[in-house]
Amino acid sequence: MNKAQIVANWKMNTTISDSINISTKLSNASLDINNIDITICPPALYLAQVHQILKNSSLKIGAQNIHSEEEGAYTGEISAKMISDYCDTVILGHSERRQIFKESNQDINKKFLLAKKFNLNSIICVGETIQERESGKAKKIVSTQILSALKSTSDFNKLLIAYEPVWAIGTGKAATAKDAQDMCSYIRNVITELNKNNVAENIPILYGGSVNSENIELFTQQKDINGALVGTASLDPDEFIKLIKKTKQ
Ligand code: PGA
Repeated sequence: MNKAQIVANWKMNTTISDSINISTKLSNASLDINNIDITICPPALYLAQVHQILKNSSLKIGAQNIHSEEEGAYTGEISAKMISDYCDTVILGHSERRQIFKESNQDINKKFLLAKKFNLNSIICVGETIQERESGKAKKIVSTQILSALKSTSDFNKLLIAYEPVWAIGTGKAATAKDAQDMCSYIRNVITELNKNNVAENIPILYGGSVNSENIELFTQQKDINGALVGTASLDPDEFIKLIKKTKQ
């Protein structure tokens, strides 16, 4: 299996000086991380600065989003090509993008194909709302999100999936490790159905939603959970370093 993956999603938080402070602390921390890939996703405005600070470290950089078109008259948007100068990775289809900015499964598929074109890793986020879970539709929703996002390609190199139940994001109420494992194993089966050449075994599947230094170990001990997508706890560098140190490698 691949290395564990820990991804920090700063969302629309931090100032330029916060970004510099956090990245400097992370790059100076003596992390024993041979078996963990760490990716930091700052706001797009700070990518160049964070890249400058982390370029000689083992930490990687990701963007939080890209536009679904390659270039053109899309005021305010950021393209795959633009971020590819700084980033290895992009987060796609985060539930905040789906819910607040009305991104569709089709948009996410276009972004995935575009990210591939620019040689970026895609972290495709999937997850159900509390209503969907309570009405027994969680797996159906998650499989639809995956099947739509991965349409028109069977090349799953550079693909990561993050299972992020919407009700667990930013609420302090993480899923249980058992429920998260159950869904992540289901996700692996869905991908196996799409491509039977054993590729699903090597696709990192992350859990996200109120992950912190106290619960990371529980999640990363699970068979089908290969890491975490971390929001709130990634904004405090001491907490984030603690979380990395507790990740099961
Ligand atoms: P959280 O956010 O860790 O604050 O719950 C996770 C995410 O949205 O990726």
